[in-house]
Amino acid sequence: MRLLMSAVAATGFMFTAAIAQAEPVVIKFSHVVAENTPKGQMANMFRDLVKERLGDDKVKVEVYPNSQLFNDNNVLQAVLLGDVQMAAPALSKFGRYTKKLALYDLPFLFENMDAVERFQKGEKGQELLKTMEDKGLTGLGYIHNGLKQLSSSKPLRVPADASGLKFRIMSSKVLEAQFETLDATPLKKPFSEVFTLLQTKAIDGQENTWSNMYSKKFFEVQPYITASNHGLLDYMVVTSTEFWTGLPDDVRGEVKKALDEAIVHGNKVALEKHVADRKKIAESGKSEILELTAEERTQWVDAVKPVWEEFADQLGQDFIDAAYASNKAE
Ligand code: LMR
Repeated sequence: MRLLMSAVAATGFMFTAAIAQAEPVVIKFSHVVAENTPKGQMANMFRDLVKERLGDDKVKVEVYPNSQLFNDNNVLQAVLLGDVQMAAPALSKFGRYTKKLALYDLPFLFENMDAVERFQKGEKGQELLKTMEDKGLTGLGYIHNGLKQLSSSKPLRVPADASGLKFRIMSSKVLEAQFETLDATPLKKPFSEVFTLLQTKAIDGQENTWSNMYSKKFFEVQPYITASNHGLLDYMVVTSTEFWTGLPDDVRGEVKKALDEAIVHGNKVALEKHVADRKKIAESGKSEILELTAEERTQWVDAVKPVWEEFADQLGQDFIDAAYASNKAE
């Protein structure tokens, strides 16, 4: 009898184990932007590729856009706690985990996205992907959005025009210094609050890419956008090292392959939207796009240049030099 009971118990155990094994690995991917953006498109394609190649019964990617689950102030903690498995915050939002990524926030560092690509593919750019490993975060890759523009309630042609105005910024000390150098007031606020802050005139302006300003309708509540291309909005796809190394090798390999392909797609979308969403904003007639003359642009470059020196020690002069050198094609 006892033998029979333990046989039944063993079978039950095996059954439970079989069910446990059949549970898919769930990858919750949380982000703050709309789906019709480079990051939104990348995340959706990643989900679809994983489904196609591994099947939902093995690995299931769930994408949560528009700050539905977390905003960028708390998503990294959520990754570390295992509440979500992937996120791709802007490089400006990792300050609590590393000071090094703020390099990407230096104003007028990169002239175009080719330069960004060259730097990120190089030794220093790759080194930065690993900068948070001691904190338990693994960088899986970069994804682009594009160069940022300045939007405001009044026309900004020269640096003095920004003086005294309030600008929303992402949580980066370099961005804070950039606006303080202009004698403006920077306010760190989550992306999900920007539209309302602009609409209610609690702030005067903000900096962002064409696709973010278009998809979140900032252009409807900002009468002027200066086509300044003064800074970069780029992301790092991150996961928790514990989760990542805990995946079976073959699954991890396939997931990474799908992610890399989705990133290539997202970067293509980024280049397209830089042009197309700007055009849509221009055609809306709701916001006037201001072009800078070469002389006006030089004024902006000169005005914010002290920020480079202020952060040289923290960011590493060797990193700044390598990033700047990437503006020249080899
Ligand atoms: C922002 O907060 O302005 C951006 O980082 C949003 C995003 O993820 O593109």
